[in-house]
Amino acid sequence: MTDTVLTARPAQAPVADRALRASAALWFLVAVFGQLFFAYYIMVFYGGTAMNGDWEAWARRLIHGIIEGDTLGNLAVILHLVLAFIITVGGPLQFVPQIRQSAPAFHRWNGRVYIVTAIVISLGALYMVWTRGILGGLANEIAISLNGLAIMICAGMTIRHALARDIATHYRWALRTFLMVSGVWFFRIGFGLWIFLNDGSAPGSNQTLTGPFDLSLAFGQTLVPLMVVELYFRARKRGNRLGKIAMATGIAVCAAGTGAGMFMAAHIFWLPNL
Ligand code: HEM
Repeated sequence: MTDTVLTARPAQAPVADRALRASAALWFLVAVFGQLFFAYYIMVFYGGTAMNGDWEAWARRLIHGIIEGDTLGNLAVILHLVLAFIITVGGPLQFVPQIRQSAPAFHRWNGRVYIVTAIVISLGALYMVWTRGILGGLANEIAISLNGLAIMICAGMTIRHALARDIATHYRWALRTFLMVSGVWFFRIGFGLWIFLNDGSAPGSNQTLTGPFDLSLAFGQTLVPLMVVELYFRARKRGNRLGKIAMATGIAVCAAGTGAGMFMAAHIFWLPNL
């Protein structure tokens, strides 16, 4: 969706193209704001409580948290949260054209850090999932693992096309990587949106995350963004006027949904811990 911020705008693009770019830019701005808030929560809550040695606070928030005697698992959790902060802050910067143009060396270095972080966080997270288990049982474990795999595949393809100097394809894979890395964030705002749409309740969801809504969201966090971005790429490349306007409208609706979901997620998951 952020292709808007990936490519320079032609001088006199037709209205449909401009609408598509504007809606993508709108979605990106809303998402960046929400992701920075997520990063702020990670830093203040997990960083702040760790500095005070308050691991109990982690136990209240995490499924497992710090388990006595499980050194490797505990290191994986700590590393996960440090990398979660780095990747959430570093990702959006890659898509800001002004930064790419005025600081290409920063773009290259931040890109390398981002891709390595994406692969390491996914490997560590897969270790946590399959050694410690998560809420929602096997289906949820498969769903979140699918997200981890998708992150690593997209990150690998992003590097491959950067090294081949195929910049247009590199950008498309970078965008897919960004959306896959945002999967866990989509999960949280998806919950927020569902609660927003249902006047404060969450039908199809339960405490163990095994309800039909929970499982749909677990797979949806990976599959829906991939589907939307492919439609967006197609609309940009081959879409007629109507197709582009329809896609622009769809993305604007996504931006509104993202905003509402973020608002609710912040009130339910993040603000009470800050
Ligand atoms: C790449 C971006 C990711 C970010 C920014 C991220 C962020 C987070 C955060 C903030 C938490 C703490 C829970 C909370 O306060 O909401 C967490 C926990 C967790 N994440 Fe991730 N995560 C990412 C990717 C993944 C992936 C790909 C997987 C699985 C393959 C995963 C598996 C887990 C698990 C299992 C926990 C719970 C750990 C426990 O309770 O002991 N994460 N993540």
